[in-house]
Formats: sequence, structure tokens, C-alpha cells
Amino acid sequence: MKERVVYLSGEFVPESEAKISIYDRGFTSGDGIYEATRTFGHKLFRLDDHLDRLFNSLDYVRIDCGLSREEMTKICTEVVEKNLPLLGEDDDYTLWHVISRGVRLPGTMTMAGPTVAIFAQPVDFTRYARTYIDGVTLVTPATRRTPPQSLSPKAKITNKMNHNMAVFEAQQVDPDAIPLMLDLDGNITETDTANAFFVSKGRLCTSKSRTVLGGITRLVLFELAAELGIEVVEDDFTPFDMYAAEEAFISGTSGSIVPVSNLNGSQIGDALPGETTLKLMRAFNELLGMDCIAQAIRHLGDNEAKELLSTWEERLG
Ligand SMILES: Cc1ncc(COP(=O)(O)O)c(C=O)c1O
Repeated sequence: MKERVVYLSGEFVPESEAKISIYDRGFTSGDGIYEATRTFGHKLFRLDDHLDRLFNSLDYVRIDCGLSREEMTKICTEVVEKNLPLLGEDDDYTLWHVISRGVRLPGTMTMAGPTVAIFAQPVDFTRYARTYIDGVTLVTPATRRTPPQSLSPKAKITNKMNHNMAVFEAQQVDPDAIPLMLDLDGNITETDTANAFFVSKGRLCTSKSRTVLGGITRLVLFELAAELGIEVVEDDFTPFDMYAAEEAFISGTSGSIVPVSNLNGSQIGDALPGETTLKLMRAFNELLGMDCIAQAIRHLGDNEAKELLSTWEERLG
């Protein structure tokens, strides 16, 4: 097998043969829903939670994907299994589930049915590897997160232009920056691909759920925090609160837990990762049964990986 196999609207086909119409509403109007589920050690992590969010998002935008929950679960598992022979031992997949309203038959208002694509792509570990040690820079862009009164941020919608604008603005300030988007009232929401947390007086603080995507990693962190006896506060917080925080991090499927070094140029706390962040990183690794941070670092060039791995091991203690 030389190329990966994808599921496209009822069939498993080689990825080079997976073709979608130019009349697809996903392409013409960004009219679709998506999900991204990661494997850790080649096993899908929290697939059920991702599928809950997928089906809730589909209900919200009135797309019927034509598959039952059981059928969807089976296809997801099959796509990963079929592509495992192409995956390196220390690699993992992100499984993408992309569902659009489908093709509007040219010249008519008739829809031919949804387009359902499920495909696996190797995780790009080099994107995050250094950030576990150095932290990320957050910048608050001018573009505000779409308010829930306009479009629910809880739905994972393929039209990412609101987030993209935030990325462009943040990167003009610093090419490595990640946007920390605010809502219309100036409260912290989320980044383009992650939820945002900070630690204040030992409490884990994050935005209220109404203005952000209900991250699966966020959900896992709430569970881990409860086990570790860390109080979680969901509230309206502004950059003022994060500037004064002891530590901060972002959470998402692709990077898991990534420490924040500074917000708009102001350093947050004095350790990377901070004490509570490190506790959560350790607990997350324990839950996975593997060190996902060391895994990412191992994908860098030999010398850099060696140096960063020893720094990471020192910090882990
Ligand atoms: C806008 C946004 N917020 C938060 C998240 C984090 O969610 P999760 O932890 O499920 O990846 C993502 C990633 O999917 C996202 O795109």
C-alpha cells in the first residue's frame, strides 16, 4: 500500500482518487461541520466525545450526514486501521471528519445529499515540539470571536474565516504568535485551535462555555483537575486577569497542553510550564499511558531533540 485510504460518501478510496464537486456547498459557501480526533499510541482518543460534538454540530446546522452513530464509529475505526501500515511506530494520526451539505445540482435548488469525508493524516509534531519548552506567545487580535448571538461557537464549523482573520492579525505582530480572541465585551474566549486557561491563586480559570468551542481536551482537563483537587473557575475574564496570572496554557487536540510564555509581550508567571500546568501535563500523560510531549520532541532533528528531551525530563522531575 503506497497511499492512504480515505472514506468518501459511502466508499473507501485511495486519497488521490477522492474527488469532490466544485458545486459542493462546503467549497462554495463553507457550509459544513468538521471534527479532528487524535490517536495516541495508534488508538483513537475520546472518539465518543468527538462524535458527540460532531453530531451536535450537525444537528445545529441542520445537516443529516446519513450515517448512524454506530456506522460513523465503525468507519472512523476502519479508516485508522486501514492506514496503520503507513504509520511510523512513533507517529500518530489526526482523523479528520469533514461533512458538508453537499452538492447543489447546477441551476436548481436541489441538494444531492451530504458529502462525508473521513481521512487520517500524520500529526505534524514539529509544529508544537519546541513550544512545550519555550511556551507560546499569545496576541489579542482586533478581530473578535463571532458572538453566540450570531453563530454558536460551540459548533465546529468548516468556515474558519473568523479564526483565520485573527491568525493573520496576530502573525503580523509576531510570525510565531497565536491569537487569543476576545468576545465583543473584551472577555477572553479561545485561540483559533485551542481553549485558553490560566492559573490564579492556584485556581484553574477559563472562559465560560457559551463563547468557546467545548474542547474535548478542555473536558479532559476538567476531569483531571477534579482528580487532582484543583478548583476550576469558568467566568468572564479579560487580558488583565491573564497578565496577573501565575501561569497560563492552551489546550487542544493537536498540541494537548501547551504552556504560554507571554501575552502581548508581557511574560506570564516565571516558570515554563508553571507548577499547576506541569501537574496537568503529567496527569494527561498518565491518562494516555505515554509521554506525548517527549513524542513530539523526538520528531525534531537529532541534536535539538536530545537537548530539548533532557530539558523536558529535568522539568518533569
Ligand atoms: C476554535 C477552537 N477552540 C478550541 C479547540 C480545542 O478543542 P479540542 O480540545 O477538542 O481539540 C479547537 C480545536 O479543535 C478549536 O478549533
